[in-house]
Amino acid sequence: DGVMKTWTGEVHTVLSPICIKTEKGLERKVIGSYPLCGEEEAKASLDAAILAYRDGRGEWPTMSVSERIACVEKFTGKMIAKKQEVVQLIMWEIGKSLADSIKEFDRTVEYINATIDALKDLDRKSSRFQIEQGIIGQVRRSPLGVVLCMGPFNYPLNETFTTLIPALIMGNTLLFKPPKHGTLVHYPLLEAFRDCFPKGVVNTIYGRGNVIIAPLMESGKINVLTLIGSSKVANQLKKMHPKVNRLRAILGLDAKNAAIITEKADIDLAVKECVLGSLSFNGQRCTAIKMIYVHKHVADAFLEKLTAAIGKLKFGMPWEKDVFLTPLPEPHKPGYLQSCVADAVAHGARVMNPHGGAANASFVYPAVVYPVNEKMKLYREEQFGPVIPVIPFENIETPIDYLIESDHGQQVSIFTNDATELSILIDPLINQVSRVNINCQCQRGPDIFPFTGRKDSAEATLSVSDALRAFSIRSMVATKQ
Ligand code: G3H
Repeated sequence: DGVMKTWTGEVHTVLSPICIKTEKGLERKVIGSYPLCGEEEAKASLDAAILAYRDGRGEWPTMSVSERIACVEKFTGKMIAKKQEVVQLIMWEIGKSLADSIKEFDRTVEYINATIDALKDLDRKSSRFQIEQGIIGQVRRSPLGVVLCMGPFNYPLNETFTTLIPALIMGNTLLFKPPKHGTLVHYPLLEAFRDCFPKGVVNTIYGRGNVIIAPLMESGKINVLTLIGSSKVANQLKKMHPKVNRLRAILGLDAKNAAIITEKADIDLAVKECVLGSLSFNGQRCTAIKMIYVHKHVADAFLEKLTAAIGKLKFGMPWEKDVFLTPLPEPHKPGYLQSCVADAVAHGARVMNPHGGAANASFVYPAVVYPVNEKMKLYREEQFGPVIPVIPFENIETPIDYLIESDHGQQVSIFTNDATELSILIDPLINQVSRVNINCQCQRGPDIFPFTGRKDSAEATLSVSDALRAFSIRSMVATKQ
């Protein structure tokens, strides 16, 4: 019911990406610890969620929409009271700048409020009577059951609540596993979950995914799997469910968003937006620009301005004023990014900016890698970090073909001031991705817009009203006139 009362005895120590000097050199600072659930606790949480749902007869799924909204509003009030604590934990646990940690918190509150408004609207529209061909029907929105909810480390609050809040407010009961990096962030909210929702409705489980998630999926009792993370993990989890056709999957997954800069682009604008798109939060955003196609006639000018702009970015601790690049939370990431750069260099690319790819403790200096080709890891892999692969092109079909052949289909950014070029690009691209950005970076927000993707990038749409629909079923009571 929100607070774990027993555990296996194992305690996980949380290390911040922010390092301190010790006798051994720079080491990640210890910022807290938490008890790890084992299989037994995970199963007990599942039983609690099942009991609270009671096949749709539990207190929570049978509450009126306005009663459920009141509970979520009460929760939001308590969450706002914990803002300072949560913001500090986002900053310390994942190394996000203080300014961006505050933004993450504020946009999450806005998202919850927008979800409440959308539900009021949906309820007004869905609970009316309809008469068609002699049948009177009352259409309803009903919950789906027990939801297993997992969010990513890069937006441990905002993206987790992108699915958790709509799932909850539609009357489902939840098993919620916070992200590995970003677990402590949720600690101040446990009490609010317990105080605002009936027992067993929100069950927070802290533990290692490979220990606690498999038994939950294998039980066959999870009705909805919702995850913002990797398609590899999503596919593994789906396969564990014994009746996968009965499982609804609501997923936000991998992306390899590209920017296309044509000969007719405003290069200064393209540079400014590509820096934001590729390097905000060190490139650790699913919506980040992870590949840049630039027309060969403007490639030199673009690269010169891009590397100069990167040289001016401020590296530092997340609380420093105007800091842009901060430490990375995943310990394996510096090594992985350096291996991508080395692989590209081995296949003929160059690192275009001084110190590109250099790492110090958990910091990685951004690398602009050029010219990238299909033999390199960076061509297809989602680097999820501060490495910018750039490819020159002559024929506009080249970047279009790249996006058609890609397994991903989230977003693209087009930079051109030419209307004809735009019309040539938009039509084929809107059939490959779910958002085409013109003369601006790829991004999710404002969060009310559809947040989804094609191919391996998503299953379902995760924004406000779409998410309410995804976490419910439209059912009806009907009779003859
Ligand atoms: O990682 C994916 C995030 O939802 C991206 O959100 O584009 O606003 O940074 P953002």
